This record gives sequence, structure tokens and C-alpha cells, in this order.
Amino acid sequence: MKTFVITGANTGIGKVAATELAKRGNKVLIAGRSREKTQPVCDAIGAEFVALDLGDLASVRRCAESLKGRSIDVLVCNAGLAGHRGTTKDGFEIQFGTNHLGHYLLTRLLVDDIKERVVMVASDSHYGAKGIDWAAQREKTKSVTGYREYEVSKLANVLFAQELARRVPRLHTYALHPGAVATDVWRRVPPPFRWVLKRFLLTPEQGAVSMLRAASDPALANDTGKYYNPKGEEKRPSKRATPELARELWERSAEWVGLPS
Ligand SMILES: NC(=O)c1ccc[n+]([C@@H]2O[C@H](COP(=O)([O-])OP(=O)(O)OC[C@H]3O[C@@H](n4cnc5c(N)ncnc54)[C@H](OP(=O)(O)O)[C@@H]3O)[C@@H](O)[C@H]2O)c1
Repeated sequence: MKTFVITGANTGIGKVAATELAKRGNKVLIAGRSREKTQPVCDAIGAEFVALDLGDLASVRRCAESLKGRSIDVLVCNAGLAGHRGTTKDGFEIQFGTNHLGHYLLTRLLVDDIKERVVMVASDSHYGAKGIDWAAQREKTKSVTGYREYEVSKLANVLFAQELARRVPRLHTYALHPGAVATDVWRRVPPPFRWVLKRFLLTPEQGAVSMLRAASDPALANDTGKYYNPKGEEKRPSKRATPELARELWERSAEWVGLPS
């Protein structure tokens, strides 16, 4: 039996992965921002609820504090949002602040408590990011759809997995694309487009395959710092995912969350 902490698993592909991990006899802790939405899932699968709002760094610190000393085998950074506009509570662009910076702080605060793996649920959307405009991450979303900012946040997920692998060699890190999956993540797409889109999407069960492989497949146990497709097969990430950019992201993120780099 292993202990898995998974963020944002009250719905979507995270819920499928959490359910499957619990079914296999593991201890599962779901870190979510709504007890109301998450507790029923926890009750159904025998998981434990931990409060976490990734868009609020004080909440991330409280969550890490409550998990300290729990001996976590695997942390799965799954929670994410797309198509939003605005800033997080601490004034970061909302996609970047939630998808990257919240998970960055959570992982760094827990790094000594994690024994085995850190999984970043990224996206092939990261290929669309041209780089990271640092100043823009301190402001509200500029694009109308929030999609450009989502691409950058997902590039940050890939870079963070790579840099964590370099800085903490005892840990195994994984970044992945779950596929285009029919979940609530598309809730901001207007209904007619959403209905058409959903016909081409994977089911949440299909979308959880790569996450489950990265989190638990013994065949990937020696991998680290790599990127995977929806089947859990290794794939080349964007050419923008360079060690130089990964280092800079780590250092700037450290400064933003008030940790030494
Ligand atoms: N679906 C796709 O096609 C697709 C494609 C590529 C990558 N992904 C990635 O896969 C991951 C899971 O997405 P999904 O498709 O399963 O989406 P989803 O159904 O919308 O689930 C997202 C989860 O993230 C949680 N979350 C959002 N903001 C949060 C915050 N501030 N603090 C804590 N939790 C927060 C949500 O909680 P609430 O229910 O409380 O909002 C929900 O549990 C995301 O990282 C997403 O970017 C998805």
C-alpha cells in the first residue's frame, strides 16, 4: 500500500485516477478547494480530504503544513483551470498562479516528505507557448479566452518537472498530456461548440491512463524528467522547454513564493 496525494480529484480525470488508486488498495488523499464537492468522492472511495486552494498561497502553505510528516509516496499535481481571466489572490495571472505557482509551492514545501514520484498533469497545449513573459505573470489575463495564458502555465508544468528532476535526483518526476478529455475543464467553451467538441474527446477513464502510469507503473519507475502522451509513452516536449528556461522559472517562482532557490 502506498500513499498518494492528488490535487483537484473531486471531478474529471483526477477523480478517475484517485478512484483507481484507491481500488488498488492505496491510501489516497485528495487535496481540493471545496470540501462540499470533494467529501462525497472521498467517502465513496475511502479517501481523505485535505483543503487546498492553489490560487491562494496562504492556503497552499496550510495544506503543506497539514501534510507534513505524512510520508507521501507520490504527489500528483492534477488540478488545473483553463479559460479563466483575472488573477489569483496573490496577484498572479490566474492560469499561471493556479496551475504552476500553487503546485510549485506545494511541491517545494513537501519535497522532504515525498518518497518516490511527483507527477505534473501538463498538456500538449504547452507546445503553443512561445516562452514565458515574466511581467505578464504578475498581471491579470490579457487574452480574451485565457488560452494563451493556459499554454504558458502548462509549459511551466513541463519545465518544473524537468528542473525538479535535476535538483532532487532521488525523486522521479513525470509531466504528461492526458489527451483531449471530456471533463469540466471545457466549461468555458460556449454550448454549441462544446457539444461538437465533446464528440471528439476521450472519456475521463481514457484520460486517466497516462496519469496512472506516471504515478504507479513499475515500468516507469526509473524514468525522470520526461514527458508522456495519453498512452503513457514518452514524447518530446516543446523545444522551448530548455534547462535555461527551467532554471529561470524555478528561481523566479522561488522569489515569488518567498523560498530560497
Ligand atoms: N480535459 C482535457 O482535455 C485536458 C487536456 C490537457 C490537460 N488537462 C489537464 O488535466 C488536469 C485535470 O483537468 P480535468 O480535465 O480533469 O478538469 P476538471 O474536470 O475541470 O478538473 C479540474 C480540477 O482542478 C480543480 N481546481 C481548479 N482550480 C483549483 C484551485 N484553485 N485549487 C484547487 N483545485 C482547483 C477543480 O476543482 P473545482 O471542481 O473545485 O473547480 C477540479 O477538481 C488539469 O491540469 C488540466 O489542465 C486536461
